[in-house]
Formats: sequence, structure tokens, C-alpha cells
Amino acid sequence: MLKNDQLDQWERDNFFHPSTHLAQHARGESASRVIRTANGVYIEDRDGHKLLDAFSGLYCVNVGYGRQEIAEAIAGQARELAYYHSYVGHGTEASITLSKMILDRAPSNMSKVYFGLGGSDANETNVKLIWYYNNILGRPEKKKIISRWRGYHGSGLVTGSLTGLELFHKKFDLPLDSIIHTEAPYYFRRDNLGQTEEEFVTHCAAELEAQIEREGADTIAAFIGEPVLGTGGIVPPPKGYWAAIQAVLKKHDILLIVDEVVTGFGRLGTMFGSDHYCIEADIITIAKGLTSAYAPLSGSIISEKVWKVLEQGTDENGPIGHGWTYSAHPICAAAGVANLKLIDDLNLVTNAGEVGSYLNLAMSDALSGHPSVGDVRGEGMLCAVEFVKDRDSRKFFDASEKIGPQVSAALLAQDKVIARAMPQGDILGFAPPFCLTREQADSIVSATARAVKTVLG
Ligand SMILES: Cc1ncc(COP(=O)(O)O)c(C=O)c1O
Repeated sequence: MLKNDQLDQWERDNFFHPSTHLAQHARGESASRVIRTANGVYIEDRDGHKLLDAFSGLYCVNVGYGRQEIAEAIAGQARELAYYHSYVGHGTEASITLSKMILDRAPSNMSKVYFGLGGSDANETNVKLIWYYNNILGRPEKKKIISRWRGYHGSGLVTGSLTGLELFHKKFDLPLDSIIHTEAPYYFRRDNLGQTEEEFVTHCAAELEAQIEREGADTIAAFIGEPVLGTGGIVPPPKGYWAAIQAVLKKHDILLIVDEVVTGFGRLGTMFGSDHYCIEADIITIAKGLTSAYAPLSGSIISEKVWKVLEQGTDENGPIGHGWTYSAHPICAAAGVANLKLIDDLNLVTNAGEVGSYLNLAMSDALSGHPSVGDVRGEGMLCAVEFVKDRDSRKFFDASEKIGPQVSAALLAQDKVIARAMPQGDILGFAPPFCLTREQADSIVSATARAVKTVLG
């Protein structure tokens, strides 16, 4: 394709980028990059730079780039039937097949899939359905949702409220009143450095229970959490966390939404994070890995327990007053069918587990002895390196020093590897495609060690 020299100007003049410092960008003070093509774990910009994408876009291109099987499925669907809606009982072969494939892979208590477009709208759907559920059960006061600080669940009004990161609340008048937050299961950042992991878990469960008792269990509808905290810092939970939290929720009759937008379809080396941590969800949120981002599609997987009440609700009130024009869009569903098939055919869940463990071990070997590295952690094909000013006292750098962004920039400049400077804290995040090889994992690790040396010595 011919290079269009006007693109840079058009981009600054016209394009409102998400999650971007708007003023700096408009002034030309921050980089812009036009991506032209991609294959496997590599993306290429229009200037011909080939970059190893160790974050799979936004941890979503799980099968890797350039998969012709998915491209063909999308093209074939567009030619045959680009669109029909799914209201009042309509469906397409692709959307029906995909719902069956999802349920075949989901935990056995799951019953139906509602399709949306992205993780944010899926969580919006979940909260609405849970409010409806409690109204049908005659519990109109039981509506609050408990989320965790550092959880990430989207950036809409409700979902931005569920998200427990300051940047997503500040100046947006969020969180909304009905959303409250509890302690993050972030052992490395515990307040009491003397606590063992086990004591910290007991503390998290006790904090949750105290909050439920303060608010009144009859006002709390649900708890939402990611199996592994993602955007909040890539933090696997301490051992025993999910069992302790579920015991509290069960005791107080509070539903559990497990947000598997990042972990669903293999990122932890198991089909779902719920399988990995023995979590029994009432609703599971899926998105990213459902189509590996070849087309926008999300889903709310609804348990039999919740489904029965929704059925009762429509018997009493008429059709469910919820739906998007693009719910179960056939082109996106066709991408999902081809993507899940590819994950099976190439054994990518197993590869994510095996190469992910290899990456985590190698990263830990290379970096955990560095005086400015406080923690190297991960699970499956997720890995993070957290930087500290002083290891012994676990003193953090001041945010203004921008250590995380500096390391990520050095990694890109020196070795053309993309890792994400996570938004809160000096944390470098990795979430490569599941097709990553051990050799590619080695190059990510050696490049990271070099970047850390450049910035921190
Ligand atoms: C766990 C989780 N839930 C929800 C979302 C929101 O998804 P989307 O950006 O597609 O709205 C994200 C996005 O990163 C996520 O990581």
C-alpha cells in the first residue's frame, strides 16, 4: 500500500484516542504509531518496523495475528449474511454454533450465553440482569455491587465504577453510589509487611465480611472479580483467596460475577480462570479471547440458577427489556467459531500454560535479583515485573519518575518489544499470544533485562 503522508496530520487533527493524554498528543509531544500489518506475535508499522507484541494488543489477540482461518470465516460470513438481528428468537448458524461451543467449554453450572460487543457492555448487562434477578425475587433493596480496588471491568458508567482505578473515576463523578470497593488481593502491596500470605487472605475475607455487615447483606447483590487482577497490575491471587471469598459470599447470599475477559479461553493454561482457581460463578464475563479480537464480541454466560429467575421474570413481565442491535452479530460470531476451533486444533491452551510458565520462570531468574525489582509474578501467559525504590523497606518510586513507562519505552526502542506499562504503579506487564515459542520468550526476557539495566542500572 502507498504511504499516505497526510496520515500523521489527520491523526492529530481528527482522531480522539482512548486512554491517551489528549493535550500532549494534540501538541505532538507523544508518539503516534500507525500499524499496517501483523503476523504471529509480530506487528509491523507503516515505516517497516517489526515489533514483538508481548501484550497481544490489549491482551486479546490470543491466537496471534494473521490467522487466515479466521479471516476466511469473517469474509465467508460477510458474503453469505453480513447481518441479521437476534431479537425475538432470531439467530444465525454462527451465533447458535458459538453459543453451543462456549457452553461446551464453560463450567457445568452454566446455562446460556448473551452476546454483546465488548467487555464493558457485557459487565453492564451483568449488573442489569442481577438487579432484575433481585427484583423478581422480591428483594428490591439487594442491589449494591462489591468490586475490588485495582479491579478492571470496563470504562462505562457502571463498569467504570466497578473498575477500581483512580484514573477511571477522577473528574467523571464515579463511582456511582451503588458500587463499592473492597481490598485488592495484592499480597506484594499489603499494608502489613509482617503478614504471611495466609494471614493476608484471612484479612481480605474479614474485610469483605465486615463491609457486608456494615452495609447490610440485604443490600448487596453481587461481588465481581477477575480470577487474576489484570489492568490493576497483573496480580495472581494469594493461595486460598478464592475459596475464602466464596465462603463469605455464600454465607450472605451474594452472587459472584467472574470477569474472565482476560482469562477466558486459555490465558492461564486452562480454558477458564474459574477452572484454574475452582471458582463457581453465577455469571461469567467473556470478550477478548472469544474472537482473539478479530471482531468485537463479548458474552455474559449465565448460570442455571440465574437463568431460572430470568425466565420467571419474563413470565411475569413480558420479554426481557434488554438487547443491542449488534448482539450476536453473525460476522463476529463466525470469527468466534473459527477462533475457538483454532485454539483446539493448535492446542493453544496447553501451549499458553507451558510456554507461559517458561516465560515466568525465565523472567524471575533474570530479574528477581535486581535491586530495583520488588516482584516478578504471573500465571499462565501473564507476567509482570514490579519496580521499587528500595527492596528491603518495599519503598515505591514516586509516580512522577515514570519508571514503568521508561522501562517500557527502552524495551521498545532498544529491542522492539512491546510490553505494557500498567496504569497504576511501576509495573511492566506481559501477555503474549498463546502461540509464543520458548525462543521468543527468551528474547522477551533478555530484552527486558537490557531495558531494566538502561533505566535502573
Ligand atoms: C477484566 C476486564 N473486564 C472488562 C474489560 C473491558 O473490556 P472492553 O475494553 O472490551 O470494554 C477489560 C478490558 O481490558 C478487562 O480487562
